[in-house]
Amino acid sequence: MIPANIIEDIRYRCDIESVISSYLTLKRTGSNLKGLCPFHSEKTPSFVVYPETQSFYCFGCGAGGDVISFVMRTENLDYVSAIETLAKRAGIALPDFSDGNERRDGLSRSRTLAMNLEAAKFYRKCLFDDNIGAPGRQYLVDRGLTVPEIKHFGLGYSPERGGSMLKHLQSLGFKPKEIQEAYFAGRGEHGYYDYFRGRVMFPIIDVSGNVIAFGGRILGDAKPKYLNTSDTPAFKKSRNLFALNYAKNSTAGYFILCEGYMDVIALHKAGFTSAVATLGTAITSEQARLIKKYTDKVIISYDSDEAGQKAANRAIVLLEEAGIDAKVLKMSGAKDPDEYIQKFGAEKFKSLIEQSRGKFEFKLDEISSKYDIANPVEKIKAIGEICSFIAGIYSSVERDIYIEKTSRDFSIDPKSVKADVESKRRKLSRENDKKRQGELIRITSGISDRVNPDFAKQPKGARIEEDVLGMIFIYSEYVTRAVDGRVLEENDFVTSLGKRLFTYVKEKNSDGGFVFGMLNEEFTQDEISRVSQMIAERNELSVNDEGSFDTYVRALRQESDKINSGGDISLEELLQKKRSGMKK
Ligand code: UTP
Ligand code: MN
Repeated sequence: MIPANIIEDIRYRCDIESVISSYLTLKRTGSNLKGLCPFHSEKTPSFVVYPETQSFYCFGCGAGGDVISFVMRTENLDYVSAIETLAKRAGIALPDFSDGNERRDGLSRSRTLAMNLEAAKFYRKCLFDDNIGAPGRQYLVDRGLTVPEIKHFGLGYSPERGGSMLKHLQSLGFKPKEIQEAYFAGRGEHGYYDYFRGRVMFPIIDVSGNVIAFGGRILGDAKPKYLNTSDTPAFKKSRNLFALNYAKNSTAGYFILCEGYMDVIALHKAGFTSAVATLGTAITSEQARLIKKYTDKVIISYDSDEAGQKAANRAIVLLEEAGIDAKVLKMSGAKDPDEYIQKFGAEKFKSLIEQSRGKFEFKLDEISSKYDIANPVEKIKAIGEICSFIAGIYSSVERDIYIEKTSRDFSIDPKSVKADVESKRRKLSRENDKKRQGELIRITSGISDRVNPDFAKQPKGARIEEDVLGMIFIYSEYVTRAVDGRVLEENDFVTSLGKRLFTYVKEKNSDGGFVFGMLNEEFTQDEISRVSQMIAERNELSVNDEGSFDTYVRALRQESDKINSGGDISLEELLQKKRSGMKK
């Protein structure tokens, strides 16, 4: 009932690490964080937070979930209240979902686009209007923009008073309800009101030149800083990028990916016309694929703060999954590209692009900056961490290249580095086997599995099912592959929990998109914990190769075929099936 984009916004703006850190102390271990579990009493920490997948899991008591589940559990809130709490924390304005004002009753894409175009013209007229446009113009000038850039990007202004978009669109024959649906109006106790007020307006234009949405920045420090069009019949923010309409024509040979609209504008102004930005959320696999249509190379140029660097880590993974060569640009002395160019100029920025580093160098930097390499003990720790990182990489060619580099950088025999990496890999897979085995023993030895009672009946199939589901939940890429590609269907899943999870993902996917947080709406906290366990197990091994998803899918199909054809089933199971069938 709460739209996907809002849940996505919340998950993006309420970083799981910072939210959980405000409840308990977390210590970093590699790329994850550990702490004492708040849901059961313990002396050694077994509660792990995974920033990469924005999830948590306790290996002690099995509690797990995302940032929304965490708040539901700790604050003892229902789903909607947890969303409200987090939205408040992040300064996200929530629409009113109480009066059941369901959308989707027919505003067409073309009518939405027509409204958007009229709106863009009107915002622009307001900006250049002698009387009402002054604050907007002043703001843009203060930020270093001149009339050519303002016109190039079609910027506008939604005035505080006068120039009501609601009235304007109504005068053109649009109905208030339609105007609301296109996110130019909200609806409160006293009727409809203008959604954007007192903001500088950034139109978002697709590759065909349609105005598909707007971002609006407040002139001062009030919150929320930016307000954006949510998904409409003409717009899905996870599938579009700001300034792609210009970047697609660039001959640079690479895109520059930024976080902010202002960063993109500053870069284009400085001659870097291949800069694009996501629309207020973390980059999605859909956006990565969209970029891949135009270029194979991306320079990630996110904010220099910790949050920006963490986001860069995630962006690398997504871009690489789409087959893009991703590099990260390192900036110091400024918080974002806009500020950097204002301070140091375009030439300096150009040299940063040239010095941008690949995933491994980026990781090396991150680790090296934490330790004093001159100190032998610290150096050993640093190398240990680097080896752990390498151990988690699937491709052996890639591992070898990084082993080479590590041995050169730290003047250590490559054989020693390799030996360390291999032993860490063995340890990882041993641990994983042990976990799996422990669980199998627990389940098959009759200790009932409350959450997924079918597990014990089909342990082998259920195990593979968890592999498949785990990957689907980590990489949204696979949701699309499994659902849109019709690679899997409900019947391929062997337990009722597996079937329910898949059906739910599938439904949501066709109904505006699935995001993890939605599970909280439909599944119990125990069931979500089970899902988090699937994710946690995969996180520990970082299996992210393309091949293995297909391998698991094939294995799952084989298992379910066996089960569905009654092939390998024991007599007892068959009887049980019959019995449960008769009850219905
Ligand atoms: P930043 O806070 O880094 O903004 O958010 P910025 O682009 O540097 O903004 P200025 O320079 O202060 O104007 C990066 C992007 O995240 C989205 C916007 O798309 C913004 O450009 N965002 C940010 C929102 O959608 N809502 C917010 O409240 C804040
Ligand atoms: Mn900025």
